[in-house]
Amino acid sequence: MISRLEAFHYRCFDQLAIEMDAYHVLAGANGSGKSTLLDIPMLLGDMLSKGLLPALLETSSPAASARAQSLQELIHCHRGNYFSFAMEATLPESTVATLVERVPTSVQKDQQKWPHRLRYEVSLEVFNYTELHVTDEFLYIVPRRTTRPAMGWSINGRRPRTWKTILARTFGAPVDMHAEYHREKFVLRLRPQQLALANLPYDFHLFPASGWFKELLEEGVGARIRRYATAAAVLREGFERLGLRLVLPPALRSSSITSLWLPPGRTYAALHDALKARGFVIYEGQGRLAREIFRVANMGHLGREDFERFLAALGAVLGS
Ligand SMILES: Nc1ncnc2c1ncn2[C@@H]1O[C@H](COP(=O)(O)OP(=O)(O)OP(=O)(O)O)[C@@H](O)[C@H]1O
Ligand SMILES: [Mg+2]
Repeated sequence: MISRLEAFHYRCFDQLAIEMDAYHVLAGANGSGKSTLLDIPMLLGDMLSKGLLPALLETSSPAASARAQSLQELIHCHRGNYFSFAMEATLPESTVATLVERVPTSVQKDQQKWPHRLRYEVSLEVFNYTELHVTDEFLYIVPRRTTRPAMGWSINGRRPRTWKTILARTFGAPVDMHAEYHREKFVLRLRPQQLALANLPYDFHLFPASGWFKELLEEGVGARIRRYATAAAVLREGFERLGLRLVLPPALRSSSITSLWLPPGRTYAALHDALKARGFVIYEGQGRLAREIFRVANMGHLGREDFERFLAALGAVLGS
């Protein structure tokens, strides 16, 4: 879920920072910037999938008009030559669970220190009126408890030590990329027109949170929810065929994760290990349900065949 948006020197916004919850009402006079604000996540998604200039200057369909006719239009009051965005998104529970397994024990013990959000920052410079260059780009994992100034962090500022840096880029320098709570580090050399986030590999082992975030941006929230809901329905039909019982009634179920009662005589550890040996990872319940339930997430680049293979593996493990 998108939890914060910031824009600097972009169109009608000199400096904008909005913190968002599950529901948010946006009210304002005509021309006050509502559409401009709501378009920011879509713009970032288009920049990732299509590239910077096509996202801003090309039309997406014959009926639509381009976001802008010229790059100068994008700069607040036409003063200066750069604009920036920051976007934060709250990580889904299953991604947090994956990350928590990797953090030091001192962090595991304190939920307030658990990975909670991703923060993406990007600064763009209009160059020679016709080109757009990425000057700064950062991606961080932010813990649940953190301090933040009221007007946002701007871009490329000093960050608390508790934030985990995934991407760091300053103008002209190669991009440093750190796998999420892993030792692996990479250095990328990119042209200034290329976004580092677009070049971050879709590797859900090394980059579970960043991969999730890229998908969120590229696909859009609505399309993502529909795809996950379809995936969850495929899994739940399969669970019923296997005689498994779901913990929650339909109205309370999420579209990204399913909680199931462990069948009598089965432990979570045995089920987890047998499935892991077949290439699948399930999650345990939390709190007092830890011994009674298991959870199955259906996020990421997964297709129908992956779910069918998982159901076949689960059937084989339960039948044995
Ligand atoms: N570079 C710029 N500098 C300053 N203001 C700009 C710039 N580019 C666009 N604007 C202003 O930004 C506003 C864009 O408003 P937007 O369309 O987002 O408003 P809205 O709240 O969605 O309005 P409506 O209720 O009519 O849909 C306009 O007032 C436009 O003049
Ligand atoms: Mg509008």
